[in-house]
Amino acid sequence: MTQKAKKKTLSLKRTAIRIEPKQFSVAELVRELNSFNVNNYWDLGKFLVEKVMPTARKQGMFEDQVLKMISSHPGVKFPFSMLKQCQQYFTYYPDVKKRPLPEVFYFDLATKVDESKRRDEYEKMAVDYRWTISDLRKKIHDDYMARRIDERTKYGFDLRERNVWTYETPDPRFGKSNYKGRIPGQIVANVLYYYTKPGDYVVDPFAGSGTLGDIIDTLPYFQDRKYSMYDANPIDERITRNNVLLTGLPEQTGSVDYIFLDPPTEFTQKDTSAGFEVSIDASKADFTLKFKGIVRECARILKSGGRVSIVVEPAFAGTEFLDFPNETIQLFREAGFKQIGKVYLPRRSSESTGRAAQGLAEVKGLRVLSSDCRELLTFQKS
Ligand SMILES: C[S@@+](CC[C@H](N)C(=O)[O-])C[C@H]1O[C@@H](n2cnc3c(N)ncnc32)[C@H](O)[C@@H]1O
Repeated sequence: MTQKAKKKTLSLKRTAIRIEPKQFSVAELVRELNSFNVNNYWDLGKFLVEKVMPTARKQGMFEDQVLKMISSHPGVKFPFSMLKQCQQYFTYYPDVKKRPLPEVFYFDLATKVDESKRRDEYEKMAVDYRWTISDLRKKIHDDYMARRIDERTKYGFDLRERNVWTYETPDPRFGKSNYKGRIPGQIVANVLYYYTKPGDYVVDPFAGSGTLGDIIDTLPYFQDRKYSMYDANPIDERITRNNVLLTGLPEQTGSVDYIFLDPPTEFTQKDTSAGFEVSIDASKADFTLKFKGIVRECARILKSGGRVSIVVEPAFAGTEFLDFPNETIQLFREAGFKQIGKVYLPRRSSESTGRAAQGLAEVKGLRVLSSDCRELLTFQKS
């Protein structure tokens, strides 16, 4: 190749890097992105919105997908969250340079306030009262805290809007703190919020430390619900002694609106400490036997349209996986229920740490996982 031709190829390559990327080459994008100053959020946002996103859309990629791909590339100096913030900043304030406040105000507004009406209100207050950036940040933070308190006082508990519920600290008002297997009360409160209505009659066949009763007795939001609690080993006078496996439930046919099932872990998790292998088929058969009876009893006592939620966890038995949530779904379907909900209940970090301390498990030279997430499944009787 002649010197001239070589030069031409090189300059074409350079141009290809500088102009709009037509095809995604992550390495090229990363080089381009890294040329931005870390403080120049607006320019970086403009580059992402005007250059990267149109190409991404043409290639059928979602915006977050592209940002994640770029930020996970080795050597890129911007984490995903920062790319996302820059993109938001430019999207909301393409005209930032013509606005009355310093740019940092708009960066904070774009990344901390979701509603455009509220962003405009904060901007107006900042101009009218000659706020510093600290004044703006304090006001946004105080308003956020006030909204959270409003929510809590409205319902009296920490309401969740999506289907992953983790509560690091169980609400001390509900259940007994030293009771093994007690479920965080916030989970039961959310369950009652989503799956019951005023006037409903609610039954808890595995009441344990009485978490469900505490919530209905304590929170005015649920005062219209009536309840009955049962347990094989009752620990307070509100709970009636009853072994659901032996005698079913002492409720009239078609009389209950909602059932909350939080069965003991022994119903699914097998104790393998004895050193012998638990037969998978035996575990499944045992599970089916127990739960078939419980499901049948739920179908009997629920009104038509009544609902039942169950907390259930899969198990890794040696190298096999026992998908108890799936088995549960089958049993309820066979009994004429339709599934109306699924929520993930990851274990609290203190519970997970305890399990991790046991060390990595190996069975017959194979590495095995253990479960760290329960599922809350809800069904409706037709
Ligand atoms: C996971 S705990 C329930 C915890 C409860 N939700 C709470 O927050 O305290 C399971 C409960 O089921 C009870 N139990 C075990 N086998 C039972 C059976 N066959 N019939 C009724 N209750 C049973 C246990 O005594 C235990 O209290």
